[in-house]
Amino acid sequence: MAAGALPLGAFVVLLCVGVVRAADADIVAAGRPLSGDQKLVSPGGKFALGLFHPDGAADGSWYVGIWYHKISVHTPVWVANRETPVSNTSRLAIAPDGNLALFDGAGSIVWSTNASTSGVANASDTVAVLLDSGNLVLAPASNASAVLWQSFDHITDTWLPGGKLRRDKRTGAIQAMASWRARGDPAPGMYALQFDPSGAKQYLLLWNGTRVYWATGNWTGKYFTGAPEVAASSGGSGYSFNFVDNDDESYFTYNFAVNSTVYRFVMDVSGQVKGWFWVEATQGWNLVYAEPKARCAVPRGCGAFGVCTEGSSTACDCARGFNPQSPTSWGLGDYIGGCVRNTQLQCSKNSSGPSDGLKNVEQDKFLRIDGMRLPDDGRMAGAATSGDCQRACLGNCTCSAYAYNGSCFLWHNDLFNLQNGVLDDQAGAGSLYLRLAASELPGARSHVWRDIKVATVALGVTCFVIAAAILLVCTIRGTMKRRRATRLNGLAVGDACVSYKYSDLQFLTKNFTDKIGAGAFGSVFKGQFSDNTVVAVKKLEGLRQGEKQFRAEVSTLGTIQHVNLIRMLGFCSDGGDRKLLVYDYMPNGSLDRHLFRKTFYVLSWQVRYQVTLGVAKGLAYLHDKCRDCIIHCDVKPENILLDASFGPKVADFGLAKLVGRDFSRVLTTMRGTVGYLAPEWISGEAITAKADVFSYGMMLFEIVSGRRNIEQGERRSVVSAAADAEEHPTTTFFPLLVARKLAEGDVMTLLDPELEGDANAEEMRRVCKVACWCIQRDVDTRPAMGEVVQVLEGLTDLEMPPVPQYLEVLIGRPVHGTAYHSDSAEQLEAPAGRPVHETVYHSTEQFFRS
Ligand SMILES: *[C@@H]1O[C@H](CO)[C@@H](O)[C@H](O)[C@H]1NC(C)=O
Ligand SMILES: *[C@@H]1O[C@H](CO)[C@@H](O)[C@H](O)[C@H]1NC(C)=O
Ligand SMILES: *[C@@H]1O[C@H](CO)[C@@H](O)[C@H](O)[C@H]1NC(C)=O
Ligand SMILES: *[C@@H]1O[C@H](CO)[C@@H](O)[C@H](O)[C@H]1NC(C)=O
Ligand SMILES: *[C@@H]1O[C@H](CO)[C@@H](O)[C@H](O)[C@H]1NC(C)=O
Ligand SMILES: *[C@@H]1O[C@H](CO)[C@@H](O)[C@H](O)[C@H]1NC(C)=O
Ligand SMILES: *[C@@H]1O[C@H](CO)[C@@H](O)[C@H](O)[C@H]1NC(C)=O
Ligand SMILES: *[C@@H]1O[C@H](CO)[C@@H](O)[C@H](O)[C@H]1NC(C)=O
Ligand SMILES: *[C@@H]1O[C@H](CO)[C@@H](O)[C@H](O)[C@H]1NC(C)=O
Ligand SMILES: *[C@@H]1O[C@H](CO)[C@@H](O)[C@H](O)[C@H]1NC(C)=O
Repeated sequence: MAAGALPLGAFVVLLCVGVVRAADADIVAAGRPLSGDQKLVSPGGKFALGLFHPDGAADGSWYVGIWYHKISVHTPVWVANRETPVSNTSRLAIAPDGNLALFDGAGSIVWSTNASTSGVANASDTVAVLLDSGNLVLAPASNASAVLWQSFDHITDTWLPGGKLRRDKRTGAIQAMASWRARGDPAPGMYALQFDPSGAKQYLLLWNGTRVYWATGNWTGKYFTGAPEVAASSGGSGYSFNFVDNDDESYFTYNFAVNSTVYRFVMDVSGQVKGWFWVEATQGWNLVYAEPKARCAVPRGCGAFGVCTEGSSTACDCARGFNPQSPTSWGLGDYIGGCVRNTQLQCSKNSSGPSDGLKNVEQDKFLRIDGMRLPDDGRMAGAATSGDCQRACLGNCTCSAYAYNGSCFLWHNDLFNLQNGVLDDQAGAGSLYLRLAASELPGARSHVWRDIKVATVALGVTCFVIAAAILLVCTIRGTMKRRRATRLNGLAVGDACVSYKYSDLQFLTKNFTDKIGAGAFGSVFKGQFSDNTVVAVKKLEGLRQGEKQFRAEVSTLGTIQHVNLIRMLGFCSDGGDRKLLVYDYMPNGSLDRHLFRKTFYVLSWQVRYQVTLGVAKGLAYLHDKCRDCIIHCDVKPENILLDASFGPKVADFGLAKLVGRDFSRVLTTMRGTVGYLAPEWISGEAITAKADVFSYGMMLFEIVSGRRNIEQGERRSVVSAAADAEEHPTTTFFPLLVARKLAEGDVMTLLDPELEGDANAEEMRRVCKVACWCIQRDVDTRPAMGEVVQVLEGLTDLEMPPVPQYLEVLIGRPVHGTAYHSDSAEQLEAPAGRPVHETVYHSTEQFFRS
């Protein structure tokens, strides 16, 4: 950029802008800049380029970026000025040197494509065009194929289909895909996905440009050794991954055969790479891929003093005595900011060290936390005993924790990479002594005199509080009783759902103490009215809708009444983040509990058949009879509740739309299994009610067998995934077995052995047949839920179902060991194809678990 040319260029640009009305543009060219809320839209309308303000960004911070034009959730896929936000008076224009540049309000260049335009006949003749692939291309107007610069060569955090993640062999430059620094800050963060600099054909996840925390393993030509689900081709979905190596560059790229597939691959703020599909039916992004699967393998994933727990819904918690540095980010699932102390250490209050003789202040104390993975950056100190080690830590103000296992380790300043729930025999596990201000620990005691003073005051205060509380409780009880009585009466006459106050529900659930379950949508608590009516109160997490939408959705759900659907009694929204739903309580809990975790009795065949029929009726009602067809999106045993007489009730319907789906947690615990998800969730085809039919079919197999369709073998450690890639987990796939046995006519051999053959053979045959039809790859081949009801009631019959061959491809791994039952062992052949992506087995959700 010739600096002298700048002011003139900017001046010209300014002149041209004044009169342009905000309308979608098709190119940016000399004299045709983009400003304000103008957008550059791709020819097919898929993508748009313009100024945007990310959620959570500082006021007045605007960025030039590309996002999906037709998708209701604003999702940027590329950002130009990542590190330098501008005001909304900035404009994007062709600079005099032919580059596309961002000019701030004062007319100086903030960002430029910075490409060499020396070979172009007339530099100011270049144009910028946005393609339907999401690629922004700068080229001379006279020759669009002489690309000068393209955004696909400068991936930010999102890798779109068709984009390249490359290594330039001539310059040695490596394309890194760097995460945002925080949810509202597109600046490059600490995590990046990039080509292996050593030249091996693999990708690495790097922290701070140096520390490798995950690798795909080498590309074999067909798949990555450490991530076999990322493959050159796949059955059905038309997804393909490719490696290209020529004299100039080597790169990976991927594509979908189906153009309508909206997929993005993102280096997430959390440090995981994630694959997302857009699902029209739920108006949400559906997470189908995440690496590393173990969330806690991400370095500093929970920030300073954050504690990572594998498989927990929140992933990160603050250590005791700490609180999130930014509760807002924390609430959005962005934990990188970490935690800060509730109470300053005594030490840092300038009483400098233990030996300063100040007797009226308490020294800092240590909280012992067992089962921790100790951070690996501890410094060894000379100390002969645990007590010496503690003293060594106390003696230095910056020391924040110690551990002693024969050797003394000290940690200074911020503590990172804490993980709990680690077994003692795991490497680096032990007890950590965390330094806290004395007041943060219970039973803190120092001098008798002070204790007495405190006790006296405390006693006085306690008496007063008790007196006040008694008074208050009496008053409240009276009011509450009256109020509650009215509400319950209201329910009895079948009113639409009731809006509860948060405080009422808090009272009902004894301040959310009796937790009976936790799942993808939130935790569930037991609540009891004074007349002993028991309810289940669900605290929603991860809501993505505004207040108005929430109320609209909930009141629709509240009107739905069917004997096989769980009844929503009411809801609560305090206008802020606190959203709760109140349901009928189901004493017998969820189906999975009875099927898989063997209780002291076995669900009889009669009950099982009643459940299959009831669930079919409930789903048929949701699909056909409601005002708008409701697709459940999450049919599985965990979401089938059983009432006192083991009548089934479908739970959690309508929540997928309300909350969205996030499988990241289950992804961390299960690997490569075919679960209840219909293939169209993975392939990006339209989601219809038939997706529920698929899940329902998968569930039928489990009801028949009393076991999960896939029993997972050894859970693999993610860190060593690349190393043990040759070891395949033992998998068995029941549905294929049923399809084959059905043809042979002896499905009874597949019945849950616990039933000891005690089942109606005709009903068993019906259920197996229905199940096999439900899991067909082709959506139109699957029966509607209404038809399923008819078949199960014996009113009609179905033809013999074809064996769903695609499943073999989808499972795609050699199957070692025995197939389902050893007596009817049948080795499933390893197909040539490799699976698409992870198909997600989301088993952790429990609605009512006691
Ligand atoms: C810029 O943003 C301010 C508020 O932040 C708004 O009032 C103004 O209309 C915006 N201007 C343009 C050109 O979008
Ligand atoms: C533009 O590229 C040149 C070298 O090609 C480099 O020295 C300069 O820093 C770049 N400027 C920006 C703003 O990226
Ligand atoms: C370059 O193009 C501009 C406008 O298109 C024109 O005014 C100018 O004369 C051209 N310069 C050359 C060297 O052709
Ligand atoms: C356009 O650019 C391409 C690529 O640089 C080149 O091969 C081609 O000859 C150019 N066409 C014309 C008409 O200049
Ligand atoms: C991957 O390939 C490189 C050479 O390209 C080789 O040095 C390395 O050992 C390979 N890694 C594995 C795990 O096979
Ligand atoms: C990141 O790496 C740079 C140098 O590569 C180093 O100076 C810096 O301290 C590192 N950051 C952290 C937080 O370790
Ligand atoms: C898919 O999109 C590409 C370009 O975006 C287009 O060339 C192709 O014809 C489309 N294919 C189908 C089947 O629509
Ligand atoms: C601690 O004392 C030093 C001087 O001794 C003073 O500069 C500093 O501000 C003090 N810090 C606090 C937190 O009181
Ligand atoms: C405390 O520990 C740090 C890190 O080991 C060291 O640099 C510092 O000198 C120590 N301070 C004192 C007072 O010993
Ligand atoms: C103590 O912990 C360190 C670091 O984790 C480890 O290297 C060492 O072997 C442990 N010592 C004993 C006696 O367990």
